[in-house]
Amino acid sequence: MSKIAVPEVVPQKDGPMPGAKKVHVKTFGCQMNVYDSERMTEALAAYGYEETAEIADADVVILNTCHIREKAVEKVYSDLGRVRDVKDERRRQGKETLVTVAGCVAQAEGAEIARRAPVVDLVVGPQSYHRLPELLFRSRAESRRIVETQFPEEEKFAHLPERSLAPEGSKKQGPASAFLTVQEGCDKFCTFCVVPYTRGSEYSRSVGDVEAEAKRLVKRGVAEITLLGQNVNAYHGEGPDGQSWSLAMLIGRLAGIDGVERLRYMTSHPKDMSDDLIDAHRDCAKLMPFLHLPVQSGADRILAAMNRKHTAADYLELVARFRKARADIALSTDIIVGFPGETEADFAATLELIRHVSFAQAYSFKYSARPGTPAANMDGQVPEDVKSDRLARVQELFAAQQAAFNTGCIGKTVPVLFEKPGRHPGQLVGRTPYLQLLHAEADTALIGRIMPVEVSGVRPNSLSGVIAAA
Ligand code: 5AD
Ligand code: SF4
Repeated sequence: MSKIAVPEVVPQKDGPMPGAKKVHVKTFGCQMNVYDSERMTEALAAYGYEETAEIADADVVILNTCHIREKAVEKVYSDLGRVRDVKDERRRQGKETLVTVAGCVAQAEGAEIARRAPVVDLVVGPQSYHRLPELLFRSRAESRRIVETQFPEEEKFAHLPERSLAPEGSKKQGPASAFLTVQEGCDKFCTFCVVPYTRGSEYSRSVGDVEAEAKRLVKRGVAEITLLGQNVNAYHGEGPDGQSWSLAMLIGRLAGIDGVERLRYMTSHPKDMSDDLIDAHRDCAKLMPFLHLPVQSGADRILAAMNRKHTAADYLELVARFRKARADIALSTDIIVGFPGETEADFAATLELIRHVSFAQAYSFKYSARPGTPAANMDGQVPEDVKSDRLARVQELFAAQQAAFNTGCIGKTVPVLFEKPGRHPGQLVGRTPYLQLLHAEADTALIGRIMPVEVSGVRPNSLSGVIAAA
């Protein structure tokens, strides 16, 4: 680890681009990137920057990138081509545009990005977001490209501005549901995965720090908080007693905050699952009955080659324990098909595990060789057409399970947290405890409220329902 230098150029009050005050952020990848994008936007808001959805209006463009699969990386480079056209057009109008690549591609590819895409002014890795305004300012002041991908010793959360509150009396309603990163990085080193390299080793924020942020979110009108971490159930932040606290202890603490109505967490690793977290699903009413627990494969020899540190039987046993603690818990998972060496029999074992568990929702991916990870050099790389065929089969099974889970909800009355207006006038969209999207006719005054809703129908990706009489 290298220590970063004290900035030579301190950002001015009017920020990297005096007088010009708009930032456009495009987020790729996981929820942790969504959270990071919000924090970067807030860091620039402290210098008067307003967010814009229009890239052509933006003085600062940030692509917050994902490196997890090759396709995600290609997408970033094709987007940078479009950004270059916008930057050229703005230059013709006499306007400057500072282009930033943040996130995991920035971390992994560093200077290579600036080489492949000269349109980029700043490449900044996830551990340096608190320095974003300063780095942008410096890039502009010195007219040079900056690549900042170190893992600094200072802690970024301590240096990011506090999450802002909606102004007093403001009509602008904060989102009812928010992400809150409590843990970053991963020490598991699954052989297919870039995360331990791009996000570094595990780090947990302190309980006090998380609690303070949760309270600020509640003041902004947030009712539901999803605690995020690449390996969130490995959380071991320092508690107010100076001891290491588990995720379950953190959840218990946050559940005590008035106004926190719902808590969720993702993503967990089977190996780090602890009894107290399973018990929390029985004992903590605010903890939602939903669990995203990636299994990746149902074949033990593939799980071993993936360095997953659990077997298919371990996974099934965990599922049984969760169901014992909370019978209605909805389960979600990630599957990779076509990992090197995966045979038809291995794939059949994966389908078998999926049939055994029955998931409420799931994500599935074709194995994508990531340079620098052990699996990229393994023998037995699976041909693309075999991967495509297996992906289609696994997705068909997941779609049937999701449809069955959703259909099983028809006629039940469930509490729904309404989040925003739906596409049709008079309609709101919310989420059930099981994370299903639900549409219902409802007054906008109900945004941010939890209402009992009778589920009346199932659409391809959501439910519809009717607010039940109180
Ligand atoms: N190829 C395909 N899928 C991957 N994932 C992670 N790395 C790869 C890879 N190299 C999937 C895993 C993980 C999810 C976030 O992305 O299923 O759980
Ligand atoms: Fe990647 Fe495995 Fe860590 Fe998940 S647990 S982030 S898949 S290395």
